[in-house]
Formats: sequence, structure tokens, C-alpha cells
Amino acid sequence: MLVTGGAGFIGSVTTLALLEAGHDVIVADDLSNSSKHAIDRVESLARESGAAGDLEFHELDARDDAALHDLFASGHITSVIHFAGLKAVGESVDKPLDYYRVNLGSTVSLVTAMRDHGVRDLVFSSSATVYGPEAQSPLREDAALSTSSPYGRTKLFIEQMLRDVAAAEPGWNIALLRYFNPIGAHPSGLIGEDPRGIPNNLMPYIMQVAVGRRDELVVFGDDYDTADGTCVRDYIHVLDLADGHVAALHAIDRFHGCQAVNLGTGTGHSVLEVLAAATAAVGKPLPFRLGARRPGDIAVTVADPSRAAALLGWSATRTLNDMCTDAWRWQSTNPFGYGD
Ligand code: UFG
Repeated sequence: MLVTGGAGFIGSVTTLALLEAGHDVIVADDLSNSSKHAIDRVESLARESGAAGDLEFHELDARDDAALHDLFASGHITSVIHFAGLKAVGESVDKPLDYYRVNLGSTVSLVTAMRDHGVRDLVFSSSATVYGPEAQSPLREDAALSTSSPYGRTKLFIEQMLRDVAAAEPGWNIALLRYFNPIGAHPSGLIGEDPRGIPNNLMPYIMQVAVGRRDELVVFGDDYDTADGTCVRDYIHVLDLADGHVAALHAIDRFHGCQAVNLGTGTGHSVLEVLAAATAAVGKPLPFRLGARRPGDIAVTVADPSRAAALLGWSATRTLNDMCTDAWRWQSTNPFGYGD
């Protein structure tokens, strides 16, 4: 099978899970926001665990039609997981054309190559960002869709595009996996999240405070309508998310067209709860202050995960403490990530 973006945070952990489940995996990644070290570590972890699948890596941009054609022409690809893409909400507001070019362009090229080579099984990385602010948590897949950033719009447009593709021709099985807030790291401490520049997301920011790379966490708003006033999100361990992809792939024959599935736990945690759990995992106080709201944030985003349980036979099992312990193992042993 083909995994685009397989050197990234979620892609690398999922690639390892696929190898362990016995799949041969071809990773295509242009390394623009990821590290080849992640692939090397996946390879050695797979070897150590006696994984049955083989790993092959190609440094390529998923918009490169000729390179994609050559990959598919090898005849070994029967299904695809498409992770590759740009993913920073704030950056997408400043550079919308980059987001449309990369996220939409790569998907058009990839799906065209799939069609040309008779490959019809696709798992796509979507996001809970497609649920608009008016949708009520717990969010079901049939909630109203709308989104406020160019990044979110690329996910929404791609979802629509894939529905159109599936409607135009029979035979497609497409899973739109809507991720909630993936955090944590592989429990080995060898593969994890390595954002370039200042982290946008809560957990990598907290972890960089914990290793002394940042002075303090700023909590973005404590006057929301929640129990402690800070925003509530559905944090999911990246290992659970990876297992969700393996489950989606194994259930893909049941998709018959294009369907959306939430990957979340169904349980929400506030920013202060995450900070408290991270502080316990790290074992020392983590400096923070309460600051202003971040524009665009909504008070509560939590999944209704029942469709994933019914359709994929999958549900998340790991706790917030597991997420923080694993994130800290990764960050404390790799304070500067992969170091490239
Ligand atoms: N937060 C802080 N301080 C920080 C960073 C974040 O208080 O330094 C807070 C945010 O305000 C929010 C919570 O921590 O309340 C989580 O923020 P993240 O940026 O980690 O996650 P979001 O829920 O905002 O974003 C995630 C994904 C996006 C996706 C979005 C909407 O990272 O890709 O959900 O579904 F678009």
C-alpha cells in the first residue's frame, strides 16, 4: 500500500502500525515538514518488533504526476492513505494559495493516479475543523459543515471532491477520517511530534516549556463557558489514531462510496486539565499564565465516536495520562525533535 506523508507525526506512527499489522508500505513524503530520521526509526522499531511488512521510502511530492505514475506502475499498490499536506491554521490565513496548491493539488494528482491504475481504496486525513462553530458537541458526522480558515476549507473541499469522485464511478471505497486532537508519541520515545518553529498546538508547546525551550505556556482564554473557563478538546493518543487507520483500511470494503468517520475518544479535557496531567507526567511545575482568547477558537469540540465503533470496530483506549507520559518520554529524550 501507499502512504503519503508517512514521515510526519501521524504518518510515521501509522506506518509502523501498518507494518506491524503485516502490510507492505511504500511511503511517499517530500520531507518539507518532516524528517527522514522518522522513517529510519520506524524501520528499526518494525525490525525489533518482528513486523511482517516491508517498508520502502520515496522522497517525492504528491503533486508530481510522473513520479506517482511510476510508483503505481510497479503494481504493488492496492490501497492508499493520504496524510501529506500543510496543516497550520494560522499559516493558512497568511498563505492561502500555498494551502490550496499543496492540499488540493496533491489530492487531485493522487486520486487521478489511483483512477488511472485501477486503485479504488482510499483513506483520507480530514479534520474536526470541518465542523462549524454552530455545530453542537458531541459532534456526529452528519453535523452541519463549515469552517473558518483556508486550511479548514481545503479539508472541506477535498471531502466534497472525494464524494464527487465516488459518485461519478462505482467501485470507490473512501474513508474520510476526521481527527480530533492527536497528541502523545510512540511509547518507545523514538517517534513523535517535531513541529518546526514555534508550536501552534497545545501539547508540543507544553512539552517545549518542559524541556526549557520556551519560558511559559500562555493559556488562551479562561472566560469560556466551560467548567474551568478554558477550552475543551477531545485529545486522542496518536497510537489510538494509528490503530484507527489500520481498522479503517481493514473495513474499507464496507465503505461502498465515500463516508466520513470521527476519530476521537468522546471525552473532553480543558486546557488546564491537560496542563495538570502534563505537569504530573513531567514531575515538575510548568510555568504558565492566563492570557487572551485566540481568535477563532470555540469553547468545546468533542467527538461522538459511535460511528467509528460501529463501522470500523475501533475505539480509543488510551488515557490523557498515557498521552502525557508518552509525549514527555519523546520530548525528554529528543529535546530538539529529530534535530534536522
Ligand atoms: N492553547 C493554549 N495555548 C497554546 C496553544 C493552544 O491555550 O499555546 C489552547 C487553544 O486555545 C485550544 C487548545 O489549547 O483551546 C487546543 O489548541 P490546539 O491548537 O492544540 O488545537 P485546536 O483544537 O485549536 O486545533 C486542532 C488541530 C487543527 C484543527 C483544529 C480544529 O490542531 O488542525 O483542531 O479542529 F484545525
